[in-house]
Amino acid sequence: MSSAPNSLAARDIAYTVHGYTNLRQHEEQGPLVITGGEGVWVSDDEGKKYLEGLAGLWCSSLGFSEKRLVEAARRQLERMPYTHTFSHRSSEPVIELSEKLVQMAPASVTKAFLMNSGSEANDTAIKLIWYYNNARGKPEKKRIIARRRAYHGITLAAGHLTGLPYARAGFDLPMSDRFFHVTAPSWYREGLPGESEEEFSTRLANEVDTLIRSLGADTVAAFVAEPVMGAGGVVVPPKGYFEKVQAVLKKHDVLFVADEVINGFYRTGNTWGCDTYNIQPDILTCAKQLSASYLPISAVLMSQDFYEVIADFSAKHGNLGMGYTYGGHPVAAAVALETLKIYEEDKTGEHVRAVSPHFQKRLAQLADHPLVGEARGVGLIGAIELVRDKKTREPFEVSAKVAPQVTGRCLAHGLILRPLPGDAVGICPPLIITEAEIDQLFDRLTAALDDVAGVLPKAA
Ligand SMILES: Cc1ncc(COP(=O)(O)O)c(C=O)c1O
Repeated sequence: MSSAPNSLAARDIAYTVHGYTNLRQHEEQGPLVITGGEGVWVSDDEGKKYLEGLAGLWCSSLGFSEKRLVEAARRQLERMPYTHTFSHRSSEPVIELSEKLVQMAPASVTKAFLMNSGSEANDTAIKLIWYYNNARGKPEKKRIIARRRAYHGITLAAGHLTGLPYARAGFDLPMSDRFFHVTAPSWYREGLPGESEEEFSTRLANEVDTLIRSLGADTVAAFVAEPVMGAGGVVVPPKGYFEKVQAVLKKHDVLFVADEVINGFYRTGNTWGCDTYNIQPDILTCAKQLSASYLPISAVLMSQDFYEVIADFSAKHGNLGMGYTYGGHPVAAAVALETLKIYEEDKTGEHVRAVSPHFQKRLAQLADHPLVGEARGVGLIGAIELVRDKKTREPFEVSAKVAPQVTGRCLAHGLILRPLPGDAVGICPPLIITEAEIDQLFDRLTAALDDVAGVLPKAA
């Protein structure tokens, strides 16, 4: 970092507040200022190049130099930079994008509601579910079940869904007793000795069943889940898990909300994580790769049955009393539409299916590294979990900050990755990554792991 008084770094420290950052440490350390990008590579203000191994925040699917998206934004900005979707207004990009999303979505989906971020989409889903159950004359049916380690965002309602302690500590959450969390589907961490993957899935589905029964099915509205958990450590569900959980939810008239904010648009090899794990959602939320993150946009996708109920209720109330100034922003919608066209024309899904076996092979090989307890993933997403003792799975002390040490060494080797809770390191490159770049990613990560293994005290 340059320490010159007028440098970008000095001005960042002087004026900018950063989320998910130790603000006091930031005053000492300063920012990594990213100034450019080309393909899967980004560069900082000192000209150093990095392979962006987390696609920004799991979102830059098409990398950092897709000219078609720049053009799509420019065209729309010149033509009509802003209109909204309140009070019967609409715009061509919003109409085309909604139609396209419905065509791409699981069969039950018939309507799309646009907003700006993953958190907003999940907040909206919760509000609409409460609205829906009020409309159905079930005012008690409001409780929501999520999972520990889940990440669903950080606004007040989405923050209640998120099952990570850091999202709550110091923020006076929970503010509501409507949110419940069940066990994360990590067979590695939560499986019992001798328990098979299927048995583990059955136990977790029974836990959901028992919770719903103990709360009373007429008080439970929805179960919210990422098909593959992302920010909680890339937790890949065990065999049979979602089939078993869905059977429980059906029995109790509990909606399934699929949070596809990371999974959606080919991350797991299929269009949706729901396709990969045989999930039939009632509501689906998506964001991030929807626009390759060139502009902020998200969506709540819903079934016709759900829509019919809220449509009647909006007529009763005079309108659907919610929306966002920038929800369905025409420029963001035009960029999202172009992103979906690129996915189709460039056969992004086929590309992911072609290169992901190599990605998963290189990932799996890391399981042999002395620091790695588990290497897990699907499609082009994965994580390694770092442990002191591979046999007993004993973790390092949190204070040792082993995952941050590894991602720190990755930076030195020109690779950006992200430390995750549970001493994991997340890997989620742009979907356009080539096999040669996958090799560079894993070679650099291996070098970083070797560096850290070399300086850690040996296990007793
Ligand atoms: C699965 C999931 N849902 C929701 C969100 C929240 O999205 P945003 O940060 O756009 O509010 C995230 C963000 O990482 C996410 O990973």
